Amino acid sequence: MKTFTVAEIAAAEVLDSRGTPTIACKVLLKDGSVGFMQVPSGASTGQYEATELRDADMSRYFGKGVLQAVWNIESYLNAYIKDQTFSSIDAFDRRICELDATEQKSRLGANALLGLSGAFARAAARSCDRPLYAFLSNDAHELPIPFMNVINGGRHADNQLAIQEFMLVPHGFNAFSDAVRAGAEITHYLNEILVAQYGRAGRGDEGGFAPDMHDARQALDAITQAIDKSAYTTQQVGIALDLAASEYHSGQGYFIDKSEKNILDPVKWIEYISMLVNDYPVLSLEDVAADNDEQTWKSITRQLNKQVQIVGDDIFVTQEKRLSSGIQDGIANAILLKPNQVGSISETIATTSLAQKNGYGTIVSHRSGETEDAIIADIAVGLACRQIKTGPLRQSDRLAKYNRLLWIEKELGHAATFPNDYYLNRRALKQKVAEQG
Ligand code: PGA
Ligand code: ZN
Repeated sequence: MKTFTVAEIAAAEVLDSRGTPTIACKVLLKDGSVGFMQVPSGASTGQYEATELRDADMSRYFGKGVLQAVWNIESYLNAYIKDQTFSSIDAFDRRICELDATEQKSRLGANALLGLSGAFARAAARSCDRPLYAFLSNDAHELPIPFMNVINGGRHADNQLAIQEFMLVPHGFNAFSDAVRAGAEITHYLNEILVAQYGRAGRGDEGGFAPDMHDARQALDAITQAIDKSAYTTQQVGIALDLAASEYHSGQGYFIDKSEKNILDPVKWIEYISMLVNDYPVLSLEDVAADNDEQTWKSITRQLNKQVQIVGDDIFVTQEKRLSSGIQDGIANAILLKPNQVGSISETIATTSLAQKNGYGTIVSHRSGETEDAIIADIAVGLACRQIKTGPLRQSDRLAKYNRLLWIEKELGHAATFPNDYYLNRRALKQKVAEQG
C-alpha cells in the first residue's frame, strides 16, 4: 500500500489580497515530493467558523499577524509529524486535529491546520504522480459552473448596497471555457454601463465593481442590461446573490441598505427576496437569513425551494454536524464549501459527500481575502462539486482559480464535461417537464 512519510514541514507569514497576513505552508515528503498551500481569509465570517489564529500583538499588522500559527507548525507540530508515515490525507488530517484537540481548532489555529492539510494533500498527489484533482478522484472529469461576483456590496465595498454579492452565472454552455468567455464579455459591457450610469464602476474587495448604488435593483438592472447587450441570453447566463444576511440585520429584521433605516421584518424580507427572484433571472440565493435565524431560513426554503437554489454559507460553515442538522430541519438545498471554515481538506471532503448524498448542491468557494493559491479549483473538479464561486475575472487572486480550471479542462481533453443546462435552471426544468406532460 502507498504511504507518505513526512521529511520536513515549514510555514511563513505572507500576505493576502487585502494586504493582511496569512499563512503559507510547505510539506516535503521523504521521496522528495513537495506540496505548498496558502490560506485565504474571510471578512463576513460566520460566528460558527473554525478559529483563525491571529497574534494579539497590536504593534504588528494591527494585531493580525500569524507568527504564532507559524510557530505552531514549525515548532510544535513538527515535533510530532516529522519522520511519521501516513496512509492517506485522512490519516494525516486526523493526526493534526488530534494534536489540536479542540472543537474549533482554537489551540493551533484552523489557518495553520488547513495550510498544512492542503500542503500535505498536494505533496501526496505529487508522490502518486497525479494532479490534485485526479488524486482526489480517479474519475474526476466535470468542470464547475462559475459564480462570478461582478458587483460587490456589504462588508466588501464602500457603497450603500447591503447585499454583499451580485454574481453572473454562465451555466447554459457546453464547456467551462465557453462559460468563462461569456462571463468575460458580459463583465466588459457591465463596466461600460456602470461608467455611463454611475460615473465610475468602482472596485470591491473581491475585485468586482462597487458603484455608488444603494438599491439591489440598481445592481440587478445593470447586470441584466449587460447580459442583454452581449451575445448571450438570460437563459444561458443567470444571476446569483449572496445576501450575507448575518451582516445587516437586527432583532427586528433585515436592512435593505446600509443606512440601516429601511428594515423589513422576516415576512416582508421574504416577500422582498421573492420579488427579486420573480423580476430578475436569479438562479441561486446564498445566506438569505442570519445564521441564528432558523425560522426565516426554514420559511424561505419552504417557499422558494422549487424555484431557486438556496445556499447555506454562514449557517453551515462547511461543518458536517451543522449541515446534518440543517438537512433534518429543511434548511437550504445547497451548501457553500470553504475549506478554512472547517480547517482541513478531509473534513471539507466529508461535508461535501454528506451534501451530495442528500441531494444538496455543492459550491466550492474562495474567501474575500485570497492569494494566488488555486487549490479550490482542484477541489471543485476532484469532488465533482459542479459549482465554484471564485470572484470576478479581475485580479490575479481570482484569476488563478479560473486559469487553473482552464488548464484542467485542457488536460482532461475529450473527457471534460460541464454540468447539464437544467442542473441550475430549476425554472426551465419545471417548464420542460410541464411541456412534456
Ligand atoms: P467572506 O465572504 O470570505 O468575506 O466571508 C464570502 C462569502 O460570504 O461567501
Ligand atoms: Zn457567503
